[in-house]
Amino acid sequence: MRAAGACETVRQVSDWDIVLRGGRVIDPESGLDAIADVAIEGDRVAEIGPGLGPGRAEADVTGLVVTAGFIDLHSHVNTIAGLRLQVLDGVTTALEMEVGVQPVPAWYAAQKKLAQAPALHPVQQAMLDEQALQCGYCYNGMIVKASELLSKAPDPSEAQIRAAMNGHICRCGTYPRIIQAVQRASRAMAGAVR
Ligand code: FES
Repeated sequence: MRAAGACETVRQVSDWDIVLRGGRVIDPESGLDAIADVAIEGDRVAEIGPGLGPGRAEADVTGLVVTAGFIDLHSHVNTIAGLRLQVLDGVTTALEMEVGVQPVPAWYAAQKKLAQAPALHPVQQAMLDEQALQCGYCYNGMIVKASELLSKAPDPSEAQIRAAMNGHICRCGTYPRIIQAVQRASRAMAGAVR
């Protein structure tokens, strides 16, 4: 991405395919971090700056991050909800490089299936509602274990929840909220949020 005024050739505004208006433009290469317009021509950024002229198409991106995309080389976020949060920060490529590469076709197939799910499972929704997860590393195990518990004990006591979840480590230490989330999911699955 090139900063405003860096183009060697003066272009006619009609050359711009699209102008993105009013986004927070972040360019790690140049250090740019500002509210600006971005003109795109073909597959390249043609101009960046405030108050650019019209393009053949326009998009109001006020409140959004406009960036070439950040690559997170060490991300434990591997859920749709977590990936959505990362996109809000401009992360377009989240990689878990700690233990190698997952089977890529299988990973995409799983994400596609999750994305097509009509609604979140009550346990997933409760985890979000209670803000029970921070980094999300323990997310999958917590969800599976809590779902298993609720299938066997629809209205578990706190002691039952603690016993069932014992052994699932949350390095962020969100255990109180996880317990609240399981209780919330229990109420939701019973048909009423108590
Ligand atoms: S939310 Fe980070 S490990 Fe549980």
